[in-house]
Amino acid sequence: MIKKAVIPAAGLGTRFLPATKSMPKEMLPIIDKPIIHFVVEEAIFSGIEDIIVVTGRGKRAIEDYFDASPEIENHLVRNKKYELLREVQDISSLADIHYIRQKDPKGLGDAVLKAEKHVGDEPFAVLLGDDIIKAGTPCIKQLMNLFEKHKRAVIGVEEVAKEKIKDYGIIKGKKIDQSIYLIENIIEKPSLEEAPSNIGTVGRYVLTPETFDYIKKTPPGKGNEMQLTDAIKMLIGEEDVYGYAFSGKRYDAGNKAEYVKAIVDFALEREELKKDVKRYLEGLT
Ligand code: UTP
Repeated sequence: MIKKAVIPAAGLGTRFLPATKSMPKEMLPIIDKPIIHFVVEEAIFSGIEDIIVVTGRGKRAIEDYFDASPEIENHLVRNKKYELLREVQDISSLADIHYIRQKDPKGLGDAVLKAEKHVGDEPFAVLLGDDIIKAGTPCIKQLMNLFEKHKRAVIGVEEVAKEKIKDYGIIKGKKIDQSIYLIENIIEKPSLEEAPSNIGTVGRYVLTPETFDYIKKTPPGKGNEMQLTDAIKMLIGEEDVYGYAFSGKRYDAGNKAEYVKAIVDFALEREELKKDVKRYLEGLT
């Protein structure tokens, strides 16, 4: 059973500068809900109750967001805005969230390693704060289900458009079932010529505790960062690692165009917004 999830959120978010100069990328809103709220919810809806968020300098807003907010709550009580009050209070009771600092954003591998003490000697989930995945069964739950069968690491994968291959970890793998790959290799951000396939890894993982040992042995990789992909590559040499082509729609909210698409799609699903937004979009074409 997977009981713990690690959410790395200590990156600098340079693609969203200048907004991320004073605000964590993970707190950018999809209308009125920050990206990280969707990610925490995905973990909770998958049955995970213990969440470790890896933060860093300038990320206080994340902790404040999941904490109680007496001033706002009192204000809402005074103004009898009970529905909004419930919504605000629900956020602080979502889950047991712990925070660990990554002093220097040296890469995703290093961020995950910071959670080692808290995770201990058990398998765990990793959910990246950039990816919002809309799915019937939460994406990480789909990966957890496969993990329960084989007790081996599982990584979320999906087909990647040609022009985006250079931005992803791309797998070489054997398809062993409709949605399951046995991964033979992963290449981080390859050129189109180097890429062994068009199947890319996305920000959802279920990992075994051995992964921590491999991260420790990982030298700095692309961008001089300690890459999680490089550690998983070593793991592949020692044990089976699966890729799972999850069902659901993913928005890479760390990318500006995808972020805008996520906002539009979520607006079109909201009763109070959809008519207005749809009319506006139709008027543009
Ligand atoms: P990204 O590479 O997408 O995040 O890492 P970034 O570095 O913040 O973004 P850009 O490229 O500069 O715009 C994916 C996730 O891993 C976290 C990030 O916060 C993000 O949620 N991360 C990345 C860490 O926690 N620590 C790191 O050292 C690097």
